[in-house]
Amino acid sequence: MNVCVVVAAAGRSERFGGSDKLAADLGGRPLLIRVVETFTKRDEVSSVVVAGPPDGLEDFKTKYGATLGFLGATIVAGGRVDRWETVKNALAAVPDEATHVAVHDAARPGVGNKLLNRIFEAARRLPAVVPAITITATVKRVDDEPVDVTAPEDDAIADDILGDAGRVTLEARRVTETVDRRGLVEVQTPQVFVVDLLRRAYAQADLDQATDDASLVERLGEPVHVVEGDVRNLKVTDPDDLELMRLILGVKPPAERPVHKRF
Ligand code: CTP
Ligand code: MG
Repeated sequence: MNVCVVVAAAGRSERFGGSDKLAADLGGRPLLIRVVETFTKRDEVSSVVVAGPPDGLEDFKTKYGATLGFLGATIVAGGRVDRWETVKNALAAVPDEATHVAVHDAARPGVGNKLLNRIFEAARRLPAVVPAITITATVKRVDDEPVDVTAPEDDAIADDILGDAGRVTLEARRVTETVDRRGLVEVQTPQVFVVDLLRRAYAQADLDQATDDASLVERLGEPVHVVEGDVRNLKVTDPDDLELMRLILGVKPPAERPVHKRF
């Protein structure tokens, strides 16, 4: 098996608050570099294509180019808006000798070797394999429209109880349904495919609705299988996720490390 890893790294980190979440420090290395290193250490992986933001690709190369080059990764321009566009662009850079493509969110630095063992092993026998975790929570559907339940400014009791929090806007959303969670799983990345299958999936029209790569393979009518994912393989979306990721990985924020270990 000859795997090419496509790392989707062209997002804007908007929910992270604007700064580049892929540059966030994780134990002395940028988050993105940590992700790429995890893959380059694997025997099955022969190449890595990192798709960066098309606007500002030069900045991206300035930030990461040297280290990614050292790791043997290629940088290409991803999609301006949608992730599918990023993956589609990156597919053009997958080398001919690759038998499989593993598509991974750059924002998932918690991906570990046990998960990779499972997913690559399964991909030797199955054409499309996705890691997923069983949903154990009770899942509800709620109204789109929130109800404003902020305490009025002259509400002395609420002020007593909530203090400053009483002045923060508080919205509630009405429950419309409790969803039957049997058979529901939450999917993660890396999603691994036989190269030609993924190329066919991305050659389809109307990719706009795709929220992951596997769904495009499903749309072809081809089978997709899930293997056990890993709760630690969470996607860093907002700053709280980064804090959680540091706890999971057992690394301290830069300010708490001794000065000589901050960089
Ligand atoms: N991504 C991408 N190309 C896009 C959009 C997203 O490669 N056009 C990547 C992101 O870089 C990330 C992954 O897809 O690694 C998952 O996306 P998400 O967590 O939504 O990251 P961002 O799009 O950067 O964050 P936000 O939506 O908050 O702006
Ligand atoms: Mg996004």
